[in-house]
Amino acid sequence: MRNLGRNIEFKIAADGGSASGKTTGGKLIAKKLQMKFLSSGNLYRFCALKILDNKNKYDVRYINKIANSITLKKLRNKKLYNPEVTRLSSIIAKKSYVRKALRNFQKNFIKKSRLVVIEGRDIGSKIMPTADLKLFFTCSTKEKAKRRLKEFQSLDKKITLKQVEKALIQRDNEDTKRKISPLIMTKNAVLVDTTKLTIKQMEAKLINLVKNSIKKKYGNL
Ligand code: C5P
Repeated sequence: MRNLGRNIEFKIAADGGSASGKTTGGKLIAKKLQMKFLSSGNLYRFCALKILDNKNKYDVRYINKIANSITLKKLRNKKLYNPEVTRLSSIIAKKSYVRKALRNFQKNFIKKSRLVVIEGRDIGSKIMPTADLKLFFTCSTKEKAKRRLKEFQSLDKKITLKQVEKALIQRDNEDTKRKISPLIMTKNAVLVDTTKLTIKQMEAKLINLVKNSIKKKYGNL
């Protein structure tokens, strides 16, 4: 089922906390099945980066201006993963005008392609409530912290496991407890616990889930 054929339309929402495996998982599905992929967190990160460049000043107009300037190319920027950008992204994500400004980009992305995977926090609940398949990723805090630490070390960033764990817990708390579009698992989502899965096992599990879900929609292809 490598090529999904011209008539098939299939859209996947992949939500979960930070470092839960949703980006890796979403990318694996998209690559294997030739679907378009978007990390919606990068939109919030992009706004946060621009705000930091603007000496931390922002208002509705500024956010709308940034949101309208976003392109997929601009989202491929290593600076988006700087710790201060990460921290600010979850702070501004609490504001309804920020979420509203970024909604258009996501809606257009969904409209433009038949085969789409978007990962984030509110994709299944708010951005794509009619998704064909909703995945909800979880992972133990210890394992998440270990994964993030490895990423930091590969970038030569000096940080301890404790610091990484603290930042992860804080961000997940903020994302889960906020009033607007909090991170929640919708009723019809499939839970994917990645704590004990290798990348290969995760891929096999996800592809299986997607194929079964496509079969349910279209029958045997
Ligand atoms: O997924 P990522 O860690 O890149 O997201 C950065 C931040 O953006 C999250 O901590 C969250 O506050 C916010 N976000 C969001 N809704 C999304 C995706 C990300 O609020 N759909």
